[in-house]
Amino acid sequence: MNYQIPITQTKNPHWTKELVERGEFGAVISDHMFVSNYENGKWINPKVVPYENLSLNPATLALHYGQSVFEGMKAFKMQDGSVSIFRIEKHLDRFNKSLDRMCMPTIPADLFHAALLAFVKTDLNWVPEGDGHSLYIRPFVFASEARFGVKIADEYMFIIFAGPVGPYYGSPLKIKVETHFARATRGGAGFAKCAGNYGASFFPTKLAKEEGFDQILWTDGRENKYIEESGTMNVMFIINGQLITPSTSDSILDGITRDSILSLTNEMDMPVEIKKISVDDLEKALKANQVSEAFGTGTAAVVAPIESISINGHNYILPAIDENAFMLRAKKKLMHIRTGAEADKFSWNTIVE
Ligand SMILES: Cc1ncc(COP(=O)(O)O)c(C=O)c1O
Repeated sequence: MNYQIPITQTKNPHWTKELVERGEFGAVISDHMFVSNYENGKWINPKVVPYENLSLNPATLALHYGQSVFEGMKAFKMQDGSVSIFRIEKHLDRFNKSLDRMCMPTIPADLFHAALLAFVKTDLNWVPEGDGHSLYIRPFVFASEARFGVKIADEYMFIIFAGPVGPYYGSPLKIKVETHFARATRGGAGFAKCAGNYGASFFPTKLAKEEGFDQILWTDGRENKYIEESGTMNVMFIINGQLITPSTSDSILDGITRDSILSLTNEMDMPVEIKKISVDDLEKALKANQVSEAFGTGTAAVVAPIESISINGHNYILPAIDENAFMLRAKKKLMHIRTGAEADKFSWNTIVE
């Protein structure tokens, strides 16, 4: 279907250069948003409108039973001044897998493309430039039907809004391997980017922060034996010169930054092993000083160096990161591809015309 998306420009833009360049993650939202409703089995009335509050009925189903799914993606200012959106198809694929898991209607590819392009085009002046700066885009769908029985909703809203962001974490992370709480378990919804996964992770993360850590390194929900992921990032280790990362599963989010970095390893001559990593094996490697790098990967952080890993009360300090570290080279390469300084061999960028 060829979606025509009407655009209503705001009469009160709050755009300033200072807001676009501010760089604080999550603090600034641009002037417009995309909205579409799902009714009678169809996505209807797609439009770009001025950013505004929603008026919600207190019985809105998403608020009670958690049918709410989101994505996090980015648009970049290219070297030639154009704007590109990173890996639309891969984000849509994950979005739809999450929506399916939560019994929510999926988004047709042509609607997602048309919505993103119309929206980003309208707020093109909100895309910042500079190293580590980008427009963070938040597509989400929630159950908008108002009823108070526990049920799969029949009505939904699909919204996209965005805000300019800078680098996510300032300093390297102190991480604690969590062996009591679980983020997700086998057969659960850990692979889905659904709101409840985040709400449930707050309490254990808060406890870890009170102990002086920045983030939790989650382990599997069955035995607390295998490393899964960390906060809003997948994790990677360089052990004996080889990049090792947990295989994705139904309890790990299939990260797009993870996938992008793995795709670059070949040309960066970095051998890779994707496997289940036990906490015991990680601890043995840390004890033997075989871990030269540990880092998180995610759209928000891109690459976040890990400074220390605590396992059952033993704190292991990782070597200081030198400028030749794989994580920094991978981050730079990714940035170069996204901004056009390097060829986009994998066709990851969609230019906003
Ligand atoms: C739980 C979780 N794991 C991993 C990631 C990293 O995924 P991506 O690289 O697609 O941002 C995210 C962020 O989206 C996340 O929320």
